[in-house]
Amino acid sequence: MKKIAIFASGHGSNARKICEYFSFSPHIQVVLIGTNKPDAGVLIHARDFNIPAITFGKKNMLEKNFIEENLLPYEIDLIVLAGFLLLIPPSWIQHYPQRIINIHPALLPKFGGKGLFGSHVHNAVKASGDAETGITIHYVNAHYDDGEHILQVKCPVFPNDTPEQIASRVLKLEHFYFPRTIEKILLAE
Ligand code: GAR
Repeated sequence: MKKIAIFASGHGSNARKICEYFSFSPHIQVVLIGTNKPDAGVLIHARDFNIPAITFGKKNMLEKNFIEENLLPYEIDLIVLAGFLLLIPPSWIQHYPQRIINIHPALLPKFGGKGLFGSHVHNAVKASGDAETGITIHYVNAHYDDGEHILQVKCPVFPNDTPEQIASRVLKLEHFYFPRTIEKILLAE
């Protein structure tokens, strides 16, 4: 059984889709949900799916024994960032090389980097006048939205779209492609 941990800071709609997708999988199991927000919606999903959850802050992530005490016991094969807004420290990347992936709601390298998350991304896409946007799933390195790309999928932006309409079109792509990409990565091993 391959084991994944999902980290999220917000509603956790992607986390929920991933939990649903793998809930009856004989090959892949969500073993841990992590968040930096004690009131994050993702904690409700953890409860619904009976998955252990941890809450931690920026400082905890830098503690010497954090990984040993909180992550290693779960024997995690892949850490999935699904709207997780803290920067991943280099020590985590050393521990989990090519084992941490992120989803971004735009076609990186456009509309990525510090401060560009969630609705800020879709507002920026709207303001740019671009005729397309999409999703990027990528490996995580020590910089925001910077690691090697695994998958990009495009969708149109229509002239009269509001940022909310763009967001909803992009989120549908995320919900479909994120679980399937995780599956592909883990089953290819
Ligand atoms: C998703 O759209 C994800 O791509 C984005 O946060 C949203 C979380 O939604 N992540 C980033 O912007 C990272 N830079 P969710 O909580 O409903 O899954």
